[in-house]
Amino acid sequence: MGINIDHVATIRNARGGSHPDPIEIAKLAYECKVDNITAHLREDRRHIRDDDIKRLLNEVKIPLNFEMAATDEMVNFAIENLPFACCIVPEKRQEITTEGGLNLKINENMIRKQVLRLKKVGILCSLFLDPDIDQIEKAKQIGADAIEIHTGKFCNMQNDEDALHELNNIKKAAKYAKSIGLEVHAGHGLTFNNVIEIAKIIEINELNIGHFIIGESIFIGIKETIKKMQNIIDQARALHTG
Ligand code: PXP
Repeated sequence: MGINIDHVATIRNARGGSHPDPIEIAKLAYECKVDNITAHLREDRRHIRDDDIKRLLNEVKIPLNFEMAATDEMVNFAIENLPFACCIVPEKRQEITTEGGLNLKINENMIRKQVLRLKKVGILCSLFLDPDIDQIEKAKQIGADAIEIHTGKFCNMQNDEDALHELNNIKKAAKYAKSIGLEVHAGHGLTFNNVIEIAKIIEINELNIGHFIIGESIFIGIKETIKKMQNIIDQARALHTG
């Protein structure tokens, strides 16, 4: 499990000071043995800032999953700072959060170019995609190492039938991606409840969770929240039926 710490920075930035420090939260996550820290450096720097990424790399001993748009600015920054992994996401200035996966049919050449630049310096390269077989096929052709399946649509579905349909799409997408040699991650909108069905999908080997964990930690603390999420994920994976 990876923890996305963007929203610790959102709270810090609300008052313009240095508290709460996202790097201190990353250190607590490290003590809970999370597998990675995810942080999204947006073009508008609305939460995480350049210096946060540098400090995460220097001060925290967990692999950094650097979430970013496929712009020259971000790719240059990644090449200079060498996070363990980059997850390329679509980014719109007006959006509240990432709204969906990349469209590789439209942006194929540009994303291929950036993936190659990142891979050349040894950064593991993941593409954030909707559970769409054609997009996954293209991710493989482009040379990505991994995909992260967007679970936001599943998490937001209000009725069971639609949620089941989307869950099946995610299952098929994960199976297909694994079968063609891609590492499979997933994330967006996950909570204690909806993570269970996603964690049961055995092809998925990384879940990146942010907003809910930071929000829930207001009630029960960050370490308790992380441990509870880890337990729920572990129990769900033990129930996996194939
Ligand atoms: N994965 C990706 C690619 C994301 O863009 C985000 C949101 O920044 C997350 C995971 C985490 O989503 P959430 O904050 O809803 O848990």
